[in-house]
Amino acid sequence: MSSSSSGLIFRGHEAHPMDDAYYPKPQKPWLSFGYLLREQRLHFLLLGFVLATLFFFLLPSSSPSQPLGAHDPFPTPYLEPTRWPTNSRSYDVVSVHSVGKIPLGIKRKGLRIVVTGGAGFVGSHLVDRLIARGDSVIVVDNFFTGMKENVMHHFGNPNFELIRHDVVEPLLLEVDQIYHLACPASPVHYKFNPVKTIKTNVVGTLNMLGLAKRVGARFLLTSTSEIYGDPLEHPQKETYWGNVNPIGVRSCYDEGKRTAETLTMDYHRGAGVEVRIARIFNTYGPRMCLDDGRVVSNFVAQALRKEPLTVYGDGKQTRSFQYVSDLVEGLMRLMEGEHVGPFNLGNPGEFTMLELAKVVQETIDPEAKIEYRPNTEDDPHKRKPDISRAKEQLGWEPKVDLRKGLPLMVSDFRQRIFGDQKEGTTSA
Ligand SMILES: NC(=O)c1ccc[n+]([C@@H]2O[C@H](COP(=O)([O-])OP(=O)(O)OC[C@H]3O[C@@H](n4cnc5c(N)ncnc54)[C@H](O)[C@@H]3O)[C@@H](O)[C@H]2O)c1
Repeated sequence: MSSSSSGLIFRGHEAHPMDDAYYPKPQKPWLSFGYLLREQRLHFLLLGFVLATLFFFLLPSSSPSQPLGAHDPFPTPYLEPTRWPTNSRSYDVVSVHSVGKIPLGIKRKGLRIVVTGGAGFVGSHLVDRLIARGDSVIVVDNFFTGMKENVMHHFGNPNFELIRHDVVEPLLLEVDQIYHLACPASPVHYKFNPVKTIKTNVVGTLNMLGLAKRVGARFLLTSTSEIYGDPLEHPQKETYWGNVNPIGVRSCYDEGKRTAETLTMDYHRGAGVEVRIARIFNTYGPRMCLDDGRVVSNFVAQALRKEPLTVYGDGKQTRSFQYVSDLVEGLMRLMEGEHVGPFNLGNPGEFTMLELAKVVQETIDPEAKIEYRPNTEDDPHKRKPDISRAKEQLGWEPKVDLRKGLPLMVSDFRQRIFGDQKEGTTSA
């Protein structure tokens, strides 16, 4: 005991023992467990801290990819956790989208698509195409100008849902794409309650962008040629910034849509939302409101009812008219394509109001009279899209000219006005 302990003492303090005597190898104090626990507590603590930090950083998060909070400059529509439905799978959707993968074993069928304003004129035709393609479609509409009749042929289809909802209120849905059309489009309707129109364009668009951000959906805004105002450039290219009266009677619509475009681009740049912007030029076709004041529907309804065609001003102002199936094709190509836009979607064929009246007379009633009325305020003098960008980047251009599309609309209007037999109204 004494030699070994003296050996220990010796070896601990002398570098070279002076004799050949055997000394058992001394036990190193730092290999003893008790010693480690006693003396290295600080190191253990530090090691534990580092491991815990690594664990929490590397663990894949199952919470939404977007932080919730009052300081978020790109608000999402759902800030209070209590408002989440208990059976909601939205968190799953967020994680699927945030990593861009579908979990193994889950077969991708169609897309889940929201169409706001889907019970309206353009929206209902878009819904028809999406359903025909095999997608699941949720129509969100407050029926201000839209009608259940426009979509009721899909009732009973498990791929179709209809929600009566005003887009100025937040909405939670799990979807892959959002076509945002909700907004009255004709002057009669958007001037009816201008404050509501601007609220729909601003708050409604904000809500839908918030939804897109939360669930990682791609968002398409249907903007309008009205953002060019009374244009000083002709035809209008997407690079033209417009000539808009910010305080006129049409401003609720024109400026509302301009703001909606701004919000869309800011959510894209600032929050990484995938967006698309379409600037739609005058579109006509079956299911337009009969008396919405838009020139094609006006003329057709008047000619069918044997009333004079009302021409505002001298009738020399020009418009271009696009058949609805061409527009729907353009919207879908835009949504599926790689380019944000904005894209002009319209038919470059340009007609004066008097030329349009003549085509309507030829198609419906050559005896129809023309009646002149004073022009409305801020009515643009010229409108014609330059569609080179859409041709080049989307491979899109309209196929249906006015003389081919108008009869298809006329048979739908005739059926709705007189209850005649319907004859192939929706496609051209
Ligand atoms: N048709 C055109 O010539 C044209 C031209 C330029 C732009 N656009 C745009 O295309 C979109 C569709 O136009 P449309 O011609 O089908 O018009 P529309 O009036 O037939 O359809 C609009 C739909 O939106 C719904 N809606 C309106 N406000 C809403 C709200 N607050 N919440 C929920 N739903 C609401 C209406 O009930 C209607 O079903 C609009 O955004 C419009 O600005 C259309």
